[in-house]
Amino acid sequence: MRFDQVRFHYRPDVPVLKGVSVTVPAGERIALVGMSGAGKSTLLKLLMRFYDVTDGAILIDGKDIRDFPIAYVRQQIGFVQQEPFLFNGTVRDNLLYGDLQADQDRLEAAAHAARAHDFIAALPEGYDTWIGERGVKLSVGQKQRVSIARVLLKDPPLVIFDEATSNIDTETEVKIREALNELTVGRTTFIIAHRLSTLHAVDRILVLDGGQLVEDGRHDELLSRGGVYAGLYEAQFQV
Ligand SMILES: Nc1ncnc2c1ncn2[C@@H]1O[C@H](COP(=O)(O)OP(=O)(O)OP(=O)(O)O)[C@@H](O)[C@H]1O
Ligand SMILES: [Mg+2]
Repeated sequence: MRFDQVRFHYRPDVPVLKGVSVTVPAGERIALVGMSGAGKSTLLKLLMRFYDVTDGAILIDGKDIRDFPIAYVRQQIGFVQQEPFLFNGTVRDNLLYGDLQADQDRLEAAAHAARAHDFIAALPEGYDTWIGERGVKLSVGQKQRVSIARVLLKDPPLVIFDEATSNIDTETEVKIREALNELTVGRTTFIIAHRLSTLHAVDRILVLDGGQLVEDGRHDELLSRGGVYAGLYEAQFQV
């Protein structure tokens, strides 16, 4: 996949992405970091074709994504949102949204892998418990794990994970991290990361600053470079 001189604005007078170029080999796990407003979510929204580039192109297998039907592009991508949307219905209904054909075995296997089975099994009616506005309210961490199980059932080659910004307790964070590891095996992955403590494991970190790609490398490399990433990291840990 390649982002080729990608430019984008929501309003003509305010450029948001200012010529981002990067090549991502299939199967690579990438973290996207940068200050709030740097353009991280926007870049991945372009990949999902919520918007199209203003200039430049995004290419998959050498082909401009604007030349594929939007439905095809979205089929290739599993998206775990910051605050996942679950609809009113049972846990099972929500999981099946990933693959309507999945039987109970596959459903539970996905929930296990997503570290969601245990809390689902503990709900009043297990997989048949109603969730959403009129049912049991799930925490953000639980919703993200349901969402990960959904994507596992969908089984797309590409995954986008937008880390929750709200506070998540350490135990939940560990479970999400384990679920994420299961999810990303063999898939091209973009993780929008807000907490930098967990980035040692990704293959590569892209740093966006003011709509430009300013750094590209592994955690250790970027830390020793003493640039934007090192600054963000130090600010978070006050070392
Ligand atoms: N729908 C929109 N209409 C107009 N401007 C937008 C819209 N969405 C985002 N922006 C602006 O585009 C810029 C980049 O936003 P974006 O959401 O991509 O940042 P981000 O790096 O994901 O930030 P965060 O870490 O806060 O999620 C910001 O200045 C933001 O205000
Ligand atoms: Mg964002």
